[in-house]
Amino acid sequence: MSDRFAALHVQALRKTFGSTTVLDGIDLRVAPGSVFALLGANGAGKSTTVRILTTLLPFDSGTVEVAGLALPAHARSVRQRIALTGQYAAIDDVLTARENVRLAAQLAHLPSSTINGRVRELIERFDLGHVADRRAGTLSGGTARRLDIAMSLVASPQVLFLDEPTTGLDPRSRLIMWEVIRELAAEGVTVFLTTQYLEEADRLADRVAVLDSGRIVAEGTPDELKALVPGGHLELRFTTEPDLDHAAALLGGETDPSTLTLEVPTDGDLPHVAALLTRLADDAVPVEKFGLHSPTLDDVFLTLTGTANRKKFSQ
Ligand SMILES: Nc1ncnc2c1ncn2[C@@H]1O[C@H](COP(=O)(O)OP(=O)(O)O)[C@@H](O)[C@H]1O
Ligand SMILES: [Mg+2]
Repeated sequence: MSDRFAALHVQALRKTFGSTTVLDGIDLRVAPGSVFALLGANGAGKSTTVRILTTLLPFDSGTVEVAGLALPAHARSVRQRIALTGQYAAIDDVLTARENVRLAAQLAHLPSSTINGRVRELIERFDLGHVADRRAGTLSGGTARRLDIAMSLVASPQVLFLDEPTTGLDPRSRLIMWEVIRELAAEGVTVFLTTQYLEEADRLADRVAVLDSGRIVAEGTPDELKALVPGGHLELRFTTEPDLDHAAALLGGETDPSTLTLEVPTDGDLPHVAALLTRLADDAVPVEKFGLHSPTLDDVFLTLTGTANRKKFSQ
């Protein structure tokens, strides 16, 4: 079904390389002006998905619509409405930063009368003024990534694809990149990004899809995904095994005798946590340490992709 209200709409997308199935029937729907994160480990199929959505790679079956246009039929028109910043920067190291942006504008067939203005605007916008006349090859990773995004925005795309935009960046450059992405989304650009970082998806994305071995194993807002795992618990540590057993008899939960800890499920609600602790205090059970654990996207990811289980078995 065509969905003209979506910036991206993918149904039952399959892609194989020889006998290897890389995308095994994925569905995606991305609302215009939103930030969508495709989250997955190395080899999950993220770049393959991005390359298909950006017309760089053909697919075997399924339907793909980008900016309201079906692929592969409308590949040319789609290319005029999108931009891609790849996992590896598409920068010419010998040219200066400014020359790189100008070249991108020329390649995008911007009218020559508008090129100078657009180049100046982007250099300023991405805080590249102080490095504009330096060879791009001498720029730091974070600055090069900003230059790369500036170049991909010359033609004001409706949908911007970012394949692992912060992989390999230092923490400060990562924060700057997040800011850039938020600003673009606030201006109405639809951002489709891939990431291996759960925190990044949590902080940036309106919706997240978890890709594992070519299948979407979960999709939703970061909060919806966190609600999928019953990760919330109160962790209590004791100094002796009798204390641990006493506490478990009072509160239930799961004990780990090797660490003398007890995990009691809770939604983290203050009255509930207070009631648990009061029950121990009333029986004078000494607690060495306690802490509250809220589910994170990490829990979701590990639970859904089975990595947690694999880890357990390999230990
Ligand atoms: N051109 C290709 N030929 C054969 N296999 C490929 C090709 N491109 C990617 N793959 C395989 O597809 C899987 C997914 O790759 P990719 O989409 O790059 O994953 P990700 O970007 O999530 O790390 C990997 O197992 C990879 O080896
Ligand atoms: Mg990749």
